[in-house]
Amino acid sequence: LGRSIHHYDAVESTQKIAHKLAQEHAPEGTLVIAEEQTAGRGRMARSWHSPKGSGIWMSLLLRPELPPQKAPQFTLLTAVALVQAIEDICDVQVEIKWPNDLLINNRKVTGILTELQADSEQIHSLIIGIGMNVNQKQEDFPKELVDIATSLAIEKGSEVSRAAIVQRTMYHLEKYYHLYMEKGFAPIKLLWESYAISIGRHITARTFNGSISGIASGITEEGVLLLEDDQGAVHSIYSADIEINP
Ligand code: BTN
Repeated sequence: LGRSIHHYDAVESTQKIAHKLAQEHAPEGTLVIAEEQTAGRGRMARSWHSPKGSGIWMSLLLRPELPPQKAPQFTLLTAVALVQAIEDICDVQVEIKWPNDLLINNRKVTGILTELQADSEQIHSLIIGIGMNVNQKQEDFPKELVDIATSLAIEKGSEVSRAAIVQRTMYHLEKYYHLYMEKGFAPIKLLWESYAISIGRHITARTFNGSISGIASGITEEGVLLLEDDQGAVHSIYSADIEINP
């Protein structure tokens, strides 16, 4: 993975470029990296702050021969690879907040956005977008992020090589992609659970149609979050923002 790299100074969004390359039959493993995004996108139609030079803004194209229902598992697989890449280079402890936020000391350092082109039977292309704050200083974040975001450099106390992180990320992603294709999701799920902070905690999940509170009891084989509410009913959460309650 990452042997064919398309590097740009500024783009609207690396996701958009990766979608276009996918349609033009770019091979699996193609990686799009930009120094700056002018319209970086996050989950749930949010924007993603992607200033010049200080972060990793990239999108990886995969073409797994799998049904589209499997796509969310790749978000979790990517989160595991990213935790290990960061821990290799920075010697800090990283935690995962379902489904895709990587936190250090309770502040978000990385987000993952998985998008796909598929029909009802098969994925044609899976585009994994990764946004990582690497060398920002705390005062570089806009005021709406300053209390909730962090960067690797802030947590490590010195500048971090973006190239080294990208290289380790590709190494771990390739390893876990092969493991997944050989053994399925079970070994990835175990690793993911070992890094997850939300499981076993009382949480509030805000979804498009309201919020539910209860204990996060685990994830399914598909990567869906299970939440047991105060009446004991179990809900499957496919997409939400999670808040961990005290
Ligand atoms: C999230 O909401 O947490 C996901 C953020 C994903 C951001 C990355 S940056 C590279 C890629 N291009 C985009 O426009 N978004 C993703």
